[in-house]
Amino acid sequence: MRMRKKKWVDAFLESEDHYLIRNREELQFKKTNILEIGMGMGDFITQSAKANPDTQFFGFEKVDQCVAHAIKKAADLELDNLRIIMDDASNLEDYFDHQIDKIYLFFSDPWPKKRQAKRRLTYRAFIERYEKILKSDGELIFKSDNRQLFEFTLKEFSHFDFYLEDVSLDLPLAEDSPISAYEMRFRKLGQPIYFAHYKRSKHEFGKQL
Ligand SMILES: C[S@@+](CC[C@H](N)C(=O)[O-])C[C@H]1O[C@@H](n2cnc3c(N)ncnc32)[C@H](O)[C@@H]1O
Repeated sequence: MRMRKKKWVDAFLESEDHYLIRNREELQFKKTNILEIGMGMGDFITQSAKANPDTQFFGFEKVDQCVAHAIKKAADLELDNLRIIMDDASNLEDYFDHQIDKIYLFFSDPWPKKRQAKRRLTYRAFIERYEKILKSDGELIFKSDNRQLFEFTLKEFSHFDFYLEDVSLDLPLAEDSPISAYEMRFRKLGQPIYFAHYKRSKHEFGKQL
């Protein structure tokens, strides 16, 4: 997310010591722990944390201005079940080790050029990291407006021990759950939302086809 840096951001983040996690020793977990990677300005994760006070949420984002805005939203909502990490997702294992129940990857940057493939958050090196931070029965939810990134994601995950629990080429809007800023933007434009729900552990087939 490119934006002109605002003057208040550095000073605000330097003095912030409630929401911002600077090393793994500061992390606290609950029974259920959810992580959004590339949370942007935190619209989805702050609303999710508000709606689920018994779940621990973590927002991961590399852009400082996004992080500052997300923290302001968390503080306005007086959330005590959300913590935010400002770092690149290639460093996820510095913070987590098989504690995460669910990862959200929403509208990740598509990096369309072939030579940029390694930067996509569903490139195989990232999936290897997700395996290391998820619990053995953990899940990952992917949403995108970008068909090429969606196809790439399906191919990359097919090399791993993840089961495709659900998939959609045009995900209907779930009225009762929060959506991210990008999802809101693409839905307003009438664009289809590509969706994949992965689970790590094998499960019984329960659904009626
Ligand atoms: C297109 S925005 C989507 C934001 C939000 N998930 C949404 O759906 O509204 C992608 C976000 O992912 C962040 N991001 C991209 N690559 C990242 C990485 N390697 N580590 C951490 N954050 C990353 C970007 O800085 C940006 O804020």
